[in-house]
Amino acid sequence: MKMTPSRLRALKGKEPIPALTASDTANARLVDAAGIPLILVGDSLGMTVLGYETTLSVTLDHMLHHTAAVARGVQNALVVADMPFMTYQVNDDEAVRNAGRFLQEAGADAVKLEGGAERAGLVRRLVQNGIPVMAHIGLTPQSVKELGYKVQGREAAAAEKMKSDAKALADAGAFALVLEACPAALAESITTAIPIPTIGIGAGAGCDGQILVLHDMLGMFSGFTPKFVKKYADIGEQMQTAFHEYAEEVRTRTFPAPKHTYD
Ligand code: KIV
Repeated sequence: MKMTPSRLRALKGKEPIPALTASDTANARLVDAAGIPLILVGDSLGMTVLGYETTLSVTLDHMLHHTAAVARGVQNALVVADMPFMTYQVNDDEAVRNAGRFLQEAGADAVKLEGGAERAGLVRRLVQNGIPVMAHIGLTPQSVKELGYKVQGREAAAAEKMKSDAKALADAGAFALVLEACPAALAESITTAIPIPTIGIGAGAGCDGQILVLHDMLGMFSGFTPKFVKKYADIGEQMQTAFHEYAEEVRTRTFPAPKHTYD
């Protein structure tokens, strides 16, 4: 059955929600077939797939292209597209128009954007215009120049701000909230304080769901690996082994064998 924002929201308090990123049709198909209910086309694809240093280089065109590829591979999961840097910050009219393109042109079911209470007005407007929104607070990679990649909400004032941001975004109509890199106790208290599911990444086991970046959890990204990543497979190493074996067989003329050859 196709996942919708309201069905996902209704999972809060009933069952934990697993989520993964995907950036192409092949991976999206596999994630969907595994029964993962939420697939994020995260702008982390700027690093994992496109080779940029940060997510700041990711454009609306990149994200539309990858979101459409993911949507083509998905039957059941909710497909959420990340709004990239500078596509929702300039003004709300531009943000609504850009967000709409993800649903209208790329087949997304919802968008995600970073930021706290300062984005609540925009979230409300998007939702009123039929665009479901997943919010994202804590470590927000699009603010890397201002915040770096540090755990957020450690000091009392910062923790209070994260809590009031979470409430403002839930009140504005977000259907879920990503909590990235913050103390587990804070994530748990936010989770109990708001009526929408929290999806944690580096936010401990007390969240309503968890998300990992697919390339990180499969061992396919050799850049920086944060403490919160668990590698469930080492596909990168398996690919290297396969490439070496193939190159060797071509060099020694053992590939192609007769069974790979037409008479
Ligand atoms: O871009 C991304 O992959 C994300 C997740 C880390 C939540 O925003």
